[in-house]
Amino acid sequence: MRTFIAIDIAPAIRESIRALLGELKQAERRIRWSRPEALHITLKFLGEVAPPKIAEVKACLAKLRTPAPFSVSVHGSGFFPGERSPRVVWLGVDGGKELADLASRIDQSLEPLGISREKRPYSAHLTLGRIDGAADINAVRELLRQKEPLALGSFPASEYYLYESTPACGGSVYTKLARFEVKAGGEPPAAI
Ligand code: 2AM
Repeated sequence: MRTFIAIDIAPAIRESIRALLGELKQAERRIRWSRPEALHITLKFLGEVAPPKIAEVKACLAKLRTPAPFSVSVHGSGFFPGERSPRVVWLGVDGGKELADLASRIDQSLEPLGISREKRPYSAHLTLGRIDGAADINAVRELLRQKEPLALGSFPASEYYLYESTPACGGSVYTKLARFEVKAGGEPPAAI
């Protein structure tokens, strides 16, 4: 099964993004805009994991020593890999060094299970939309510029989830498989 690990966003921020997505959709319909209920901050993409290994992943995460709960703010927007040939429209996520630290600890802890480490530096974001065909991003860029500084609030990150991603028409469906707490303690991550 296709899996990933992510932090959910606070309901109030999700509602603000729902409104923003409504406007963005009007601006450019050809972009595959995210469904607000599916928005999440990915910590680690695991890819395909054989069902028997899911129990090992859960056990590993359950004993992971994380940073103490920390604040995450959602602000700013942009395009990956850049405005010239955009593939993704994103909202910025700032969780300070704790968020990057959590992602790194998760990444490191799963390596002994045969799950490859990330090669690129962690880049926290919320994917607003995916561009896989012709799209005019000028209207999108203009709308987002009008909203600057785009500050959608902050929330305490105190938990994260293991998710299963299932392809479906209208966008992948994400199902929670397990919940984990962000709380300092537990065993230190395995040495590498
Ligand atoms: P994205 O939002 O930047 O696309 C489920 O697919 C989640 O895992 C998405 O949030 C996606 O991030 C993330 N992810 C990271 N690497 C991925 C990859 N190689 N393929 C698909 N999704 C990936």
